[in-house]
Amino acid sequence: MYSRYLSHFLSMFGIAHPIIQAPMAGGATTPELVAAVSNAGALGSFAAATLSPAAMIEGVQKVRALTGRPFNVNLFVLAEPVVDQAGLAAAQARLHPYRAALGLADAVRPAKFCENNQAQIAALLELAPPVVSFTFGLLDADTVAQFRQKGSLVIGTATTVAEARAWEAVGADAICIQGIEAGGHRGTFLGDFEQSGIGLMALIPQVARAVNVPLIAAGGIMDGKGIAAALILGARAAQLGTAFLCCPEAGIHPGWKQRIAHTSDDGTRLTRVFSGKYARGIVTDFMQQLRPFEQDVPPYPIQNALTADIRQAAAKQGQLELMSLWAGQGAGLARTLSAAQLVQTLADELAIALPGR
Ligand SMILES: Cc1cc2nc3c(=O)[nH]c(=O)nc-3n(C[C@H](O)[C@H](O)[C@H](O)COP(=O)(O)O)c2cc1C
Repeated sequence: MYSRYLSHFLSMFGIAHPIIQAPMAGGATTPELVAAVSNAGALGSFAAATLSPAAMIEGVQKVRALTGRPFNVNLFVLAEPVVDQAGLAAAQARLHPYRAALGLADAVRPAKFCENNQAQIAALLELAPPVVSFTFGLLDADTVAQFRQKGSLVIGTATTVAEARAWEAVGADAICIQGIEAGGHRGTFLGDFEQSGIGLMALIPQVARAVNVPLIAAGGIMDGKGIAAALILGARAAQLGTAFLCCPEAGIHPGWKQRIAHTSDDGTRLTRVFSGKYARGIVTDFMQQLRPFEQDVPPYPIQNALTADIRQAAAKQGQLELMSLWAGQGAGLARTLSAAQLVQTLADELAIALPGR
């Protein structure tokens, strides 16, 4: 039996287990993965941040065809990019040797740096999935209210107490707190980046003391014991990304899956050379070679757009050392199980770790 608070959270989200499969942009969270997780009683999340409104609609239709259970759709919150021409040219020159090595034509200025965020948010309001989640920024209270009117629960991502308070103030239904252990991009949107890199064990209780909104813990959680620890510290659920990347339903390169399972505790680090925004991934040659320029690359989404075809060509050619292999600090603990088996295994491990819940 779950505690009153935990049971309330589970019934609010319509799920059987306090487990959320993280949204992972770039094709990892296929409709098949999302639906399998939701059908297994956890919350599947479809990452839509890099999709056009038309592709978002198609993806969500596929998820709906595969499950009648609640699921989440995730977007970034982005401001219009401001392009510095000189910075753009320098960034393109730095990337030229990689383009040449992969047989890519000389770089031209990308037609666009990212999808139109306002159009994506408008499409998501129309789609009105059971749950929507956001990272990289803060929605205004009016937009949060519109989602809630449409029947979507709203989750905001925070990496500090101040960010969690900001999401509470605009009316979020739950807050996903992301520890420094997490794979993929940092959601930090207020304050100093380095000071916002807080370990999950320190972050959960401090945010729990500061806000009255249910918390979802993310970062380095790989098994039921980790989920239990997050619940004991004050979270109502755990959001796992890397743990789901080795599932057959996850749409990532097979070489990336293999590397995850062989990653050591110190095998990942934060970098902004792929996208212009700090993200945690397995250390590769590309990361190491561009490390001296860590602070020089243009901000997200500009650098992300400049490296897009490099990353795609590298994947096609199986050049893992030039790919962004996002993964969290617990990567080496990942298991190769189907999504349904993984959810059940996590739930069983949680039941053993926290028998009285
Ligand atoms: C490959 C990958 C892609 C990610 N993309 C997103 C995303 O699109 N939106 C988002 O809110 N979080 C994204 N994240 C972060 C996750 O939501 C979550 O914070 C993280 O996976 C938790 O850490 P873990 O990977 O150690 O479980 C991504 C993480 C990974 C590993």
